[in-house]
Amino acid sequence: MTTVDRHSGHVDAADYRTLMGGFPTGVVVVTTTGAEGTPYGVTCSSLSSVTVQPPTLQVCLTSTSRVLAAVLGSGRFAVNLLHARAREAASVFASPVDRFAAVPWRPTPRLGLPWLHRDAFAVAECELARTLEIGDHTMLLGEVAAVDHADDVPLLYGRRQYSAWPGD
Ligand SMILES: Cc1cc2nc3c(=O)[nH]c(=O)nc-3n(C[C@H](O)[C@H](O)[C@H](O)COP(=O)(O)O)c2cc1C
Repeated sequence: MTTVDRHSGHVDAADYRTLMGGFPTGVVVVTTTGAEGTPYGVTCSSLSSVTVQPPTLQVCLTSTSRVLAAVLGSGRFAVNLLHARAREAASVFASPVDRFAAVPWRPTPRLGLPWLHRDAFAVAECELARTLEIGDHTMLLGEVAAVDHADDVPLLYGRRQYSAWPGD
């Protein structure tokens, strides 16, 4: 049953969450490097492609995120696409733990950003092209400068749980 807030004209937040929770996605860890080389990273499902020419993707981060602040400072970020065996890494990068002590990582070849080489089957190295604040999130538009890609099965997320690829 859909409800509409009579004052804002918006659909109820819980209904909106249910709607988008039913839209399955892959899972990525967005990383960047802060001052003095400190690595930052956060689990995200908001990745989508924007356009091919120039190769541009977008991710949305909550505006209070320390990772967002670090991306705005460095002007670049990496998108680590997690494979199906990386549920633990997905949980680590959504938790208040020492994230980079829990998983192996090394710098990406082009921009030197944190690369979760064990848990990611692909990484896209991006230059921050534009930002857009909407509500309590900030959309990051990144131009893809380099990719590293291996053939593997992606981790899926939907209906508030991780899932295996159908048939695997
Ligand atoms: C599967 C999954 C997808 C997520 N997607 C996003 C996202 O797209 N954007 C976001 O800001 N947070 C997302 N989160 C929540 C963050 O990972 C989580 O709030 C994290 O603790 C924030 O860390 P930070 O405070 O270091 O930014 C997601 C979490 C999970 C488990």
